[in-house]
Amino acid sequence: MIITSCGNSVKLAKSIAKKLKAKFSPLTVSSFPDGDIYMKFNTNLKGKKLVIVQSFQPHSDMSLFDIVFAAETAKDLGAKKVILVAPYLAYMRQDKRFNPGECISSRVMAKLLNNSVDKLITIDPHIHRYKSLKDIFTISAKNLTANSLIGDYVKKKIKNPVIIGPDSESYQWAEVVAKHVGCDCTVLKKTRHSSRHVSEKMIHKIDIEGMNAVIVDDIISTGHTIIEAAKHVKKMGAKSVTAIGVHGLFVENGFDKLKKAGVKAVTTNCIEHSTNKIDVSVLLVKELVKC
Ligand code: R5P
Repeated sequence: MIITSCGNSVKLAKSIAKKLKAKFSPLTVSSFPDGDIYMKFNTNLKGKKLVIVQSFQPHSDMSLFDIVFAAETAKDLGAKKVILVAPYLAYMRQDKRFNPGECISSRVMAKLLNNSVDKLITIDPHIHRYKSLKDIFTISAKNLTANSLIGDYVKKKIKNPVIIGPDSESYQWAEVVAKHVGCDCTVLKKTRHSSRHVSEKMIHKIDIEGMNAVIVDDIISTGHTIIEAAKHVKKMGAKSVTAIGVHGLFVENGFDKLKKAGVKAVTTNCIEHSTNKIDVSVLLVKELVKC
């Protein structure tokens, strides 16, 4: 088995290779002066299984292109199987046509991957309107979850916690984590006015006075969801607010905005960031030994 990355998840890829005692072989990815992709494998792939470890951030568009080019090239060079480990799978939130004429991006992304890789392993993809990854993937697609790792982190690091899900979709993370920790949990009602404007309200009221609130969500993108949820739980008496995101995108200065709002951000290393405190490599290795 050979492990590589197109550039986004090199640290994680190296850590996986070390745990699997497999070779990490860097892939050369650059571009010609006109912007065309240049790519080169630096090891013999004939008859080998290749694992591409690549989160779709930063630059989800280029990441997808790089993965398709890398997978097609690997097969062309004789690789026996191409496994994509995409700890963060982008495009999943556009899972329907919200307005006439829109592209259902998740379907297009899946179609491109179905055509180029043999297996996909991902962590906590944003599954909302789909029942499972099978709705869009024809290849074997494994959906892992970081819930128990997040639960362990909360148990170890946060005293007197209460888990808050910022919207109805987040119950799948918030409720499971709360059960793992053995503490209370509630899911807020989020109203999204635009991609940068949301409001939050606690519908199922629980007592959080003096507690350390832990907001758990799959994605922290601009941070607006977390900031509004934090404002609400603070108003209700929470002593501190920590936000745990499986995928910390922190676009448009999201990290600084959270800091300014008095929220401590913690993430898994699905996407490399200074807030990475929860290591998902063990989860991925457990799955890869079965491949
Ligand atoms: C959406 O449903 C996701 O679960 C997240 O809540 C959302 O992507 C967060 O986005 P932002 O950080 O931009 O508010």
